[in-house]
Amino acid sequence: MIDNETMRSILARRSYKTFDGRPIGDEALETIVTAGLYAPTGMNRQPWHFTVIRSPEMLEKLGAARRSLPLPPGIPPEIAAKMGDPMRSAPVMILVSAKEGGTSFEDCCLAMENMFIAAASLGIMSGWDHATVKDLFRHDPALKAELIPEGYVLYAAAFFGYPGPAVKDRGERKGTVAYV
Ligand SMILES: Cc1cc2nc3c(=O)[nH]c(=O)nc-3n(C[C@H](O)[C@H](O)[C@H](O)COP(=O)(O)O)c2cc1C
Repeated sequence: MIDNETMRSILARRSYKTFDGRPIGDEALETIVTAGLYAPTGMNRQPWHFTVIRSPEMLEKLGAARRSLPLPPGIPPEIAAKMGDPMRSAPVMILVSAKEGGTSFEDCCLAMENMFIAAASLGIMSGWDHATVKDLFRHDPALKAELIPEGYVLYAAAFFGYPGPAVKDRGERKGTVAYV
């Protein structure tokens, strides 16, 4: 494998749910968002809307809403207990939404992955949280209306922050690969 800065960022990225509370500066945030905006999109539609949430009040509001919700179906309490409460420590959350149709789903996920890698290159880690935010929006349409444009579907949501306590190293990859 060729070792370069991009590969080091890809390999360094880990999913986190606990962050150290340090804010993400404007320049770092702009860098992360720019990486998202430069993801490829089907027919170059760039269908998305990025909602960058860094207001402590909004993060607290989302956290309180999240804590008040019943567990999503199928998640046993002992697993939920391990899920942590990222909205207590993450300084930023980014939502990527788009109108349904075409390649919106793929486009939004690619944007989020670009942001994950750009963040990792700056020592900022991330954590996917789409299911919970979707659940929040289902219970609270007013919150959804406040955060994403009307008629848009939430396709990706994640936290960003400087990492808190180290996570279990899930770095090793065991997927199968065939070279044909
Ligand atoms: C679509 C998607 C959904 C995920 N959902 C959760 C989740 O509900 N809870 C969680 O702790 N991690 C979740 N993750 C993170 C994965 O568990 C994590 O990416 C995987 O274990 C590999 O670890 P790494 O990201 O640190 O390399 C999700 C990741 C993706 C891409």
